[in-house]
Amino acid sequence: MKKIAIFASGSGSNAENIYEYFKTNKEVKITYILTNRKDAKVIERAQRLDIPFKYFTKEEFNSVEFVDFLKEQADLIVLAGFLLKIPESLTKAFENKMVNIHPALLPKYGGKGMYGDHVHKAVVANNETETGITIHYVNENYDEGAIIFQASTGVVPEDTYDTVADKVHQLEYKHFPEVIEQVLDNI
Ligand code: GRF
Repeated sequence: MKKIAIFASGSGSNAENIYEYFKTNKEVKITYILTNRKDAKVIERAQRLDIPFKYFTKEEFNSVEFVDFLKEQADLIVLAGFLLKIPESLTKAFENKMVNIHPALLPKYGGKGMYGDHVHKAVVANNETETGITIHYVNENYDEGAIIFQASTGVVPEDTYDTVADKVHQLEYKHFPEVIEQVLDNI
């Protein structure tokens, strides 16, 4: 049995999509959904899907006990819209066992502050002709871990940051679970 813990700070649509993808797979279990935001919509999704969830403070996030807890609960940590920088205690404990999805073609539009609609607004403002997703291993720097997978989509002048976000979300829902499954096979 391979265990996955998912971190999310916001809506959690990717977390739900990942759960749905694996729910019939007897070899994989989503053990926890974890969030740093008490108001995160992902909590409602976890409750509806009957997935254990845990709200944690920054102090807990940086504690040794949290690392020990995660070592018991996860073979792979998946960041799906998680906005905090990962402490070295965790990146070291989960080297090549923690992945993140970024809603752009890194290294473009990455780094601190580049998340969610900020990314799509920058892509539109710069008249980009394409954007996409990047799935990468996580290290101690924002969006700088080794890239595992990228997929792109076209951007046209009529696009708004909302329509770009929709195109990117479709790529995420299609590819993230499949890439997670491939990463799990190598753990
Ligand atoms: C996604 O666009 C993902 O690429 C980024 O944060 C967003 C999370 O969306 N890291 P959701 O919370 O899964 O709906």
